[in-house]
Amino acid sequence: MTVAHFATDCPYDARIRPGALDDLTTHLGGATKVAIFFPEVLGGAAARASDVVRAAGAEPTMIELPEGEQAKTPVVLADCWGRLADAGLTRTDLVIGIGGGATTDLAGFVAATWLRGIRWISVPTTVLAMVDAGIGGKTGADLPQGKNLIGAFWEPSVVLEDTDLLVGLPARQVRSGLAEVIKHGFIADERTLVLVSGDPAQAQDVTSGRLAELIARSVHVKARVVSSDLRESTSVGDDVGREQLNYGHTLGHAIEAAEHFTRPHGECVALGMVFAAELAHRVIGLDEATVARHRRVLGSVGLPTSYHGVAWPALHELMMRDKKTRGSVLRFVGLRAQGEPTIIVDPDPQALRGAWQALTATTD
Ligand code: GLY
Repeated sequence: MTVAHFATDCPYDARIRPGALDDLTTHLGGATKVAIFFPEVLGGAAARASDVVRAAGAEPTMIELPEGEQAKTPVVLADCWGRLADAGLTRTDLVIGIGGGATTDLAGFVAATWLRGIRWISVPTTVLAMVDAGIGGKTGADLPQGKNLIGAFWEPSVVLEDTDLLVGLPARQVRSGLAEVIKHGFIADERTLVLVSGDPAQAQDVTSGRLAELIARSVHVKARVVSSDLRESTSVGDDVGREQLNYGHTLGHAIEAAEHFTRPHGECVALGMVFAAELAHRVIGLDEATVARHRRVLGSVGLPTSYHGVAWPALHELMMRDKKTRGSVLRFVGLRAQGEPTIIVDPDPQALRGAWQALTATTD
């Protein structure tokens, strides 16, 4: 069992081990009613959670959500609130979200808004949710105008990471999660990069100790960053807070939106990191070897490192509208060196063009 502690205002642990779902029994905290959110594909895991809840003498309410991002709509939200009202969940009751990042985002937001906030437990079931989306206390839903435009910072009371639940995850989804693992490597944990590129096949094998170790390392990085800046409110000079977790996301989000969310998030972040590395090379002196290492490590697990899709003007326009933009200037997380993130504000257009050319002139 690996435990990572998130030292926020309402502190919590992420507990990582095969079979961690069974630990639910010790985290129900006296709730008498428990709403369990899950997508259809995780019906088996949800049934196990329901058995644990019943065995503890509480009453489960099973709320099946649409797959993926389709769960994060105002219509689904309203339906969930209605289900909680019908079930009579009170302030001492509990929400459990079992699934990928979309499910845990939605379940957490329902918990954050029900009776002005009740406890919730996050059970992330994809690599991406285990290392990033399902663990950091960001909850929310989408609007037609944009992703995650509504939401709340609302810490779970515990995160249970059952690595057995990764079995059967499509290879492309595993790779997508590894992009966030590699992101944590570049901003804060060089050893992660050594482990990924040292044995890329093991890194992608959901039954391997190597992937379990990478997940644990990644959760520790995220716990350290979130502990000092849950609300992403500090980025002063080189003292970069939670914003550093957005490494690769400025361009990554634009590609994701421009391609109508058909490309997995991690692939978009991988492209965004290569772009950010090229940009940092031009404006803050990131060395060529570290830029090349981005392509090598990401490419070793089959993530894309060059882009030949949507044209720059459309992506630039989308970046300007992204919620990560502050005021009307572009912001990129960039590395001064391995493990030294900073913020690049309003970069020179020529440097942007150069980084774009470097991303688009090559092939994987
Ligand atoms: N995924 C970025 C963050 O949690 O802040």
